Amino acid sequence: MSSKAPASPSSRTAHCGIVLHPASHTRSPAMHRAAYAALALDADYEVFDVRPEDLEAAMIRVRADGLRQLAVSIPHKEAMLGLVDEVEPVARTIGAINTVTRIDDRLVGSNTDWIGALRAIERETTIAGKVAVVLGAGGAARAVAYGLRERGARVHVLNRTVERARALVRELGGDSAGALADLAAIDAEILVNTTSVGLNEDRSPVSAEALREDLVVLDAVYSPEVTRLLADTQAHGGRPIGGKWMLVYQAIEQLRRWTALLEPAPREAELDTLTEIMAEAFDEAGRAG
Ligand code: ATR
Repeated sequence: MSSKAPASPSSRTAHCGIVLHPASHTRSPAMHRAAYAALALDADYEVFDVRPEDLEAAMIRVRADGLRQLAVSIPHKEAMLGLVDEVEPVARTIGAINTVTRIDDRLVGSNTDWIGALRAIERETTIAGKVAVVLGAGGAARAVAYGLRERGARVHVLNRTVERARALVRELGGDSAGALADLAAIDAEILVNTTSVGLNEDRSPVSAEALREDLVVLDAVYSPEVTRLLADTQAHGGRPIGGKWMLVYQAIEQLRRWTALLEPAPREAELDTLTEIMAEAFDEAGRAG
């Protein structure tokens, strides 16, 4: 980790980064750097490949280096809860931190994954009053289920290990918990896959026959861009949404948090223009491998 003098929270020169392990294929630096260029920010974005056993020491350096913001990815999202000065209530409820922002020299942990998922879904449909199914029961599922309930959807959680789905619904609320195969019995209008099934493989977590016409499907898996689940959705008359959008919107929300402290802060219209800019940077980084 480089050592840089802590800058004031309103300085447009900033040092940000992402902590994860392994760090081989993250597209976050490309996305954030493209946004910095568009907003004329003199910020840089560093990748910190940190093993779980080294996370605590890494956070001590983050403090000393004056990092403005640190994105937190796999496998550190839960451990980070114990390493910041303050955890926002939503992140506490979800049980995962994906963003650490320096506010008044305190490290504040928050979660923007749920906002990313909601905004991605809202590209295709409204959420209030809809019947939604979340596939999976890990940290990503918790964020998505939280968000959908927050927006007023009726949420069913289905998972390979049914007991984990039940535990999620017990803790966060929801209409039912079950197995992945139970999708066929639910009149779902929105489906979100948060399992890792389909990641760099031609496999879907659910049978294509269970995907009804008009179903809006967000796949949090973004590699390949069109997963088996999204291809099946398209073939059955549904509306697929790539995981890229979830990533882009959660990243914009991260950016909003630290740039809100700038004087002047970016305007809403400026942040809106970042959607396409960051999506393009994501695509470009994918092509570059
Ligand atoms: P994250 O925090 O990113 O959500 P996680 O906690 O490891 O990651 O959760 C991974 C999810 O993918 C889980 O819901 C997992 O199901 P189990 O709870 O049964 O383990 C799901 N998953 C992983 N591999 C799977 C597979 N081959 N078939 C079905 N579900 C799978």
